[in-house]
Amino acid sequence: MTELNPQFAAEAKATTSEAQFQLSELFYSRTDDRGVIEAGNSVFLRVAGFEWDELRSAPHKIVRHPDMPKGLFYLAWEQLKAGNTVAAYVKNKRKDGRFYWVLALMSPIEGGYISTRIKPSSDMLQTVTEIYQEMLAEEEKGMSPQASADLLLEKLNERGLGTYPSFQAAAIATEFEMRARSLGRPIDQLQKRFLDMSRAIAQVETETTEMTEAFKAIRTVPMNMRIIASRLENAGGPISAISVNYSQMLEEMSTWVSTFVDGDACVFARIRDAILQGQFLGFAMALEQEMIELLRNNVNDFPEEIDREAETKVLDKLREKYLEQTAEALSSVENEAKRFGRSVLDMKRYVTGLSSTRMMCKIESASLSNSGTALSGIVDQLDDCQNEIEQRLARIVELNSVIQGNTSMLRSLI
Ligand SMILES: Cc1cc2nc3c(=O)[nH]c(=O)nc-3n(C[C@H](O)[C@H](O)[C@H](O)COP(=O)(O)O)c2cc1C
Repeated sequence: MTELNPQFAAEAKATTSEAQFQLSELFYSRTDDRGVIEAGNSVFLRVAGFEWDELRSAPHKIVRHPDMPKGLFYLAWEQLKAGNTVAAYVKNKRKDGRFYWVLALMSPIEGGYISTRIKPSSDMLQTVTEIYQEMLAEEEKGMSPQASADLLLEKLNERGLGTYPSFQAAAIATEFEMRARSLGRPIDQLQKRFLDMSRAIAQVETETTEMTEAFKAIRTVPMNMRIIASRLENAGGPISAISVNYSQMLEEMSTWVSTFVDGDACVFARIRDAILQGQFLGFAMALEQEMIELLRNNVNDFPEEIDREAETKVLDKLREKYLEQTAEALSSVENEAKRFGRSVLDMKRYVTGLSSTRMMCKIESASLSNSGTALSGIVDQLDDCQNEIEQRLARIVELNSVIQGNTSMLRSLI
């Protein structure tokens, strides 16, 4: 056998190089309630470069990489201790110093925690790496783990990734989908339905933002009407009345927009969060299911000392819990979608009111000779904006029915 070129061998072992593993492989470990390893699969041992004897009873930080900010672990432990499942991109250190990245799904179980991990392959990893570097730089300057965790949330939000729950729902779905595509595996119906809903709700956000802009463009209309009315003196009476009416309607509509889209408790945020929670759980369930199948079918995948049957039971129980939680998330989506539907109906009524005001404006404009020209300019502006608002609202109604259609399909699956 030819010897490896010593320089090549040294490079291969350099701490900057990556320890490779297959996209199809899954890591598994179970810890006690302090994070001390009690069970693990062969993929974990092989990639981390340890013997089972070295990992058993070792704290999980045995694979901790110095590039990982403390803030991430602070956030993860806060979630785990609160009884929540958490997903995070984690860079780990192999025994020989090389690194490997995983997307880890960590969950509380009776008496401890479980982590199932996949190889990340999406662009999200690059974004997260940059954020971790920024956190680490602040930690090196003395930032506390808690403040660093807050910085993580801030940075995710800045990059359009939303809150941590939204981010982790997107991360697990994106990585799982990319992986399934590369491996030529299908995505099951449950996950697909949640993905369809989350895409629909993301479009609702775009439509609502654009609709808000269209409202802003017509905010000055009542004031311009009053100016025209004052110029017309007595003849301006009807226009003045229309402007008051119009102003009130715009007021009501902007209240609607703010209760619909502003803040964490708005109608839109509630339905979006419920969908994302369902999506997260749906993918978490699929991941644990794959791990269960590996446990059942692949005898060589676990060190001999591991009681595969006991581990399967633990995972089965966890999968059951996810299923129950997915059903709860689905009920929330159903309720929120109904509320959403009612809210959109209110808005439709306002828009109809707006249309009749526009019609009155048109009639007035036609009956006035000179000042009618100024009014007809306003009418044109109203035509454009209101058409846009109507179209966007119709699209929102359509998207809500996509969501409701998917909830009914999901009901039959869960
Ligand atoms: C189930 C489970 C899996 C974990 N997996 C990892 C891991 O893969 N890599 C890692 O660095 N920490 C992991 N941790 C977190 C470690 O326990 C530890 O908090 C972390 O390495 C940071 O170490 P420190 O708290 O001493 O700074 C895991 C924790 C649990 C409960």
